[in-house]
Amino acid sequence: MSGSGGFKRGLTSYGDVEFSLFLRKAFIKGAGYTDDALDRPIVGITNTGSGFNPCHGNMPQLIEAVKRGVMLAGGLPFDFPTISIHESFAFPTSMYQRNLMSMDTEEQIRALPIDAVVLIGGCDKTVPAQLMGAASAGLPAIQLVTGSMLNGSHHGTRVGACTDCRRYWGSYRAGEIDSDEIAAVNDNLVASVGTCCVMGTASTMACLGEALGIMLPGGATAPAVSADRIRMAEQTGKQAVTMIAQHLVPERILTPDAFENALRVLLAIGGSTNGIIHLTAIAGRMGIRIDLDQVDRMSQETPVLVDLKPSGSHYMSDLHHAGGLAPVLRELRPLLHLDALTVTGRTLGEELDAAPPAFSQDVVRPFDHPVYPLGSFAVLRGNLAPGGAIIKQSAASADLMEHEGRAIVFDNAQDMAERLDDPGLDVRADDILVLRQIGPVGAPGMPEAGYIPIPRKLARQGVHDMVRVSDGRMSGTAAGTIVLHVTPESACGGPLALVRTGDRIRLSVHDRSLSLLVSDAELASRAASRSEPSPDPDQRGYRKLYVESVLQADQGCDFGFLQSPRRDVSVPKP
Ligand code: FES
Repeated sequence: MSGSGGFKRGLTSYGDVEFSLFLRKAFIKGAGYTDDALDRPIVGITNTGSGFNPCHGNMPQLIEAVKRGVMLAGGLPFDFPTISIHESFAFPTSMYQRNLMSMDTEEQIRALPIDAVVLIGGCDKTVPAQLMGAASAGLPAIQLVTGSMLNGSHHGTRVGACTDCRRYWGSYRAGEIDSDEIAAVNDNLVASVGTCCVMGTASTMACLGEALGIMLPGGATAPAVSADRIRMAEQTGKQAVTMIAQHLVPERILTPDAFENALRVLLAIGGSTNGIIHLTAIAGRMGIRIDLDQVDRMSQETPVLVDLKPSGSHYMSDLHHAGGLAPVLRELRPLLHLDALTVTGRTLGEELDAAPPAFSQDVVRPFDHPVYPLGSFAVLRGNLAPGGAIIKQSAASADLMEHEGRAIVFDNAQDMAERLDDPGLDVRADDILVLRQIGPVGAPGMPEAGYIPIPRKLARQGVHDMVRVSDGRMSGTAAGTIVLHVTPESACGGPLALVRTGDRIRLSVHDRSLSLLVSDAELASRAASRSEPSPDPDQRGYRKLYVESVLQADQGCDFGFLQSPRRDVSVPKP
């Protein structure tokens, strides 16, 4: 490749540019490459395969197909490793490592002699981490996802991670099924490699990648073990080479209009509440601020159209067979910015015009016959959440959306684990469970512990839902009347730290309010008597960096120093 691209990019500093290139070529020729090969456009491919990440278990096949696509288009592919994160193999929580993975991805893209990058992610935090890193690195980047797992079957009923994991576990806790049956369920919930097969965070981020235009059209939904997924990988490799010549850098694709489109899709697919945190973090890398109050306004005019668990009844493979994201975009068309550019070099509108024709199906509903009449979540404010909180209204119980109750407070996850199932715990079905110290700083890492289990003694009485409030997150696969992301978090002086068992709390989703019914004077007195926790003298390394640098949920939980210094654009526009 002529000019300064390809292998001439980012030469190691030896003080002699020609020697640096000479040395680099000498080493890579040790792997058997010719000058002809090395003169091609170079496409890097992130290899996030790991024995601890079954959601990425098809990585070898995908990398092979991407490489085939790159070579068909005249480029030279190289895969390189980055951190891989799986939800169930990340202590203390995967979110704690998301920013680390974004830094790893960004710095690898900067360090290696590549002209474009194919980002292969899938499990919840990997796609946002990769898009954050690639947005900051600024080279042409295209997202590929591993795709969703196959469904399993239990006693003739289709099952899949992880909405059904939580449903069956709830039945087990309630004594409705025994230990033999829950063990049998455990064998069948995850039927293959690939990501969770409901509209959890992985599926949400895949759909948002396509809506942002940073993924090929049709790329979000093909199952991990399908021919469609392998073909998508090949096409992605081909497109990466084309993007180099067209200079299709993230700055041209991840625009304010693209983020508005993605927010619209997030609301319409019944997407994970984590999606708003991740979109905020990616946007922050581009100097774009997500305005939660305007997102709430958008939610009131954007119905949930996709009938997938946990808001509906189908699975990701059903959405793929129903046409993927195209029918959703078609229904939303009047509300989308159709001029937004995509990785194909064409606009979203042009891609929609070229999409396969619509056909009859029952997974994506018409705009005027939605699964839920409003967007998937609402933004709450009040004296308990001055910086905002989120509720996934499409997966909540209608009879609990307007509710006042007595607070039952757990000081942290450990306290909850020790007391929740105590038969002596004074708790009733109309109480409100409060869990604090699970925010970005407090836990740290803002774990998905906001899905507070129903106390066992109530579960055994048939109670399936209660209002729950925390400064943590919950899995996108979970459902219930659960208030999340309370900001500021309790560890950073948020009012959640002041709640006491027995206080009254009022939730009104209609009024978008979350109120602690305690006088300002009493709250001021409680705040004055609180002692500041002393800093941990042994804190060091990444944990120290994390606790000192992580931003609150309303700013995407990114590190402040990773955000773009430009923060002058706000979306959605009023
Ligand atoms: Fe990886 Fe659900 S655990 S997508």
